[in-house]
Order: sequence, then C-alpha cells, then structure tokens
Amino acid sequence: MRMNLKSVSYLIMGTALLLSNTAIAQTAKDLFLDKCAVCHGADGHAKTGMGRKSKTVDVVEAVKKSSEEQMRKIVDEGKPPYMDAWGKQYSKEQVKGLVEYFRSLAK
Ligand code: HEC
Repeated sequence: MRMNLKSVSYLIMGTALLLSNTAIAQTAKDLFLDKCAVCHGADGHAKTGMGRKSKTVDVVEAVKKSSEEQMRKIVDEGKPPYMDAWGKQYSKEQVKGLVEYFRSLAK
C-alpha cells in the first residue's frame, strides 16, 4: 500500500515535470497559434472574428509599415485597448521569436 502511494506520487511529479518542460520548449509557432492567432489568424491575415473586431492588420500590410525592431516594441509594450503587453509574460528571446515567426507569414 505504502509503495503504491509512493509510485503514484512519483508518477504525478513526473507528469508535472514533463508538462513544465513542454511549456518551456514551446516554439514560437506554438505560442503564436496559442496566443496570437485569435486576432492575427493562424496565417497572419487577421481574418478572424476578433481580428475584425479589433481591427488587427494583415501581416502583409504590417510588414510594409513596421520594421522588425518596431514590431518587437509593439509586442513588448502592447497595443491598447486590444493587444496585451506580451513582454510582461515573455522573455526578450520569445518576443523576438514571435516577431520573426509573425513576419515569416507575410511571404
Ligand atoms: C486581442 C487581439 C490580439 C491578440 C491576441 C494579439 N494581437 Fe497583435 N495586434 C492586435 C492589434 C489590434 C494590433 C494593432 C493593429 C495592427 O497593427 O495590426 C496588433 C499589432 C501587432 C503587431 C504590430 C503590427 C504592425 O502593424 O506593425 C505585431 C507584431 C503583433 N501584433 C504581434 C502579436 C503577437 C506576437 C501576439 C501574440 C503574443 C499578438 N500580436 C496577439 C491585436 C492582437
């Protein structure tokens, strides 16, 4: 009985560890699909309900007006009232990855 309980708790701990590792290893693409696609669309063209409502710009237009540098700043600081300041949740590296991924959708 004791042994069983112990193995169950190891199993739970193992699963928790595995899950947190997966979260860290989340790629820019996963993050984008998870957090950004609601408005920007999985393809970046912003043809989603939320995209229309928030007047999110198609990535093809966005890359014409903003440099990678400017985009990093926007993602970092947010775009009130709709877009959150993602820099609070994500590291500089993640923001960089997200912007690179976003820009790659314009091709
Ligand atoms: C609630 C809707 C919403 C979500 C979620 C959202 N955005 Fe935005 N985003 C906007 C709006 C609105 C703008 C301002 C209009 C525009 O430039 O598209 C914007 C602007 C941007 C811009 C600047 C585009 C430009 O015109 O230069 C980038 C880059 C961007 N978002 C990336 C992201 C990333 C990366 C995420 C996820 C971490 C994200 N957005 C999540 C709505 C959203």
